[in-house]
Amino acid sequence: MTSKHVAFYITGGIAAYKAAYCVREFVKHGYEVRCAMTKSAAEFVSPLTFETLCKNKVVSDLFDQNNDSQVAHIDLADWTDLAVVVPATADIIGKMANGIADDAVSTSLLATDAPVFVVPAMNEKMLTNPAVKRNLKRLKADGIEIIEPDYGFLAEGYSGKGRMKEPKEIFSYIDEKCRAEQLIDLSGEKIIVTAGGTVEPIDPVRFLTNRSSGKMGYALAENAAAFGADVTLVHGPVRLADIPGVEMVETVTADEMASEVLKRYEEADVVIMAAAVADYRPEKFYDEKVKKSDGDWNLRLVRNVDILKLLGERKTKQKLVGFAAETENLLENAQKKLTEKNVDLLVANDVSRKDVGFGSDENEVFLLFRNGAKKKISKTSKEKIAQDVLSELSSL
Ligand SMILES: Cc1cc2nc3c(=O)[nH]c(=O)nc-3n(C[C@H](O)[C@H](O)[C@H](O)COP(=O)(O)O)c2cc1C
Repeated sequence: MTSKHVAFYITGGIAAYKAAYCVREFVKHGYEVRCAMTKSAAEFVSPLTFETLCKNKVVSDLFDQNNDSQVAHIDLADWTDLAVVVPATADIIGKMANGIADDAVSTSLLATDAPVFVVPAMNEKMLTNPAVKRNLKRLKADGIEIIEPDYGFLAEGYSGKGRMKEPKEIFSYIDEKCRAEQLIDLSGEKIIVTAGGTVEPIDPVRFLTNRSSGKMGYALAENAAAFGADVTLVHGPVRLADIPGVEMVETVTADEMASEVLKRYEEADVVIMAAAVADYRPEKFYDEKVKKSDGDWNLRLVRNVDILKLLGERKTKQKLVGFAAETENLLENAQKKLTEKNVDLLVANDVSRKDVGFGSDENEVFLLFRNGAKKKISKTSKEKIAQDVLSELSSL
């Protein structure tokens, strides 16, 4: 991991001193580092600290060209493989979200096409201010990754959310992503991912659905795209932001999801069925809201199409990844699904557990392969599970 060029953008928060530890961590692990600082950041820590740590001149004044033929902030933007804004003030977050370029840091950030990680650090009330929340949401929608602040003791003397993630954690998170990207190359692969639960309407106001949040499928799609794949995400109604660079296809019912997947199947190299597709739907859709009566209502359900099974039957060149969400006999049921549905890799998880699975940011899964091999991924983030699944897939 020696060739990556990492640009640090340090802005004027009390946590600016921690950015020095971050820079040191990256330098120590062989990354090439350059830094840019705002005028406010230089009030907290001297540019000399960063110049000494990264052995490069700090870019801080938009108009000081240092008698160089290069324009310093553009040169930095072009040189960058990945950018880290740390600590990120409410101010720089607002500027980035709105395309403002009025100093060396904001202008250089606007000029880079490298992936950007933003590490906010601020007072809890600033962090929960609607304007800051709106700006962070906009950055996420623009494909910028936010390394969320922790809850902890703040410089103001009380505890709250807003404390910058520790430098070692920031390093591990970014470093792991870089390693995964180097190891997993999915360029040229056409991948369809499905995510979320489907919704089966009963009448204009009632429907049947399940507890799937879509987070696992979204993590898979986002990471597959980062590893170079051409990704289409066919999803049910979920509360998650669109992923930049991924073709987003919104569906509601299992039938709609099936038809969107099938119409792209022939062209696809891989299909990852992470959606929780409803097995049944109401036999009849009532055009008008069904009036309640004193008696009971027996709702008859009919079988939905089994998308995974259909894909297994029609498989030619494609690799198929299935998910099994079970509440009992996890491995036994998953193994059965793998064989019966002609799947290449099956990800099985126990959805009876409260701490992982549906809705949670974490999961614990077993990977089952066609040759009978099994691998356990102990409780970790869905992001990490997505990377592990894609890594297995790339070596299938
Ligand atoms: C002592 C002190 C501590 C500050 N800490 C923070 C902070 O942690 N987070 C933040 O967003 N702003 C903080 N500010 C406010 C910023 O310095 C201010 O908004 C400034 O305009 C940011 O400029 P920059 O984004 O160009 O660096 C602090 C200001 C002072 C005086």
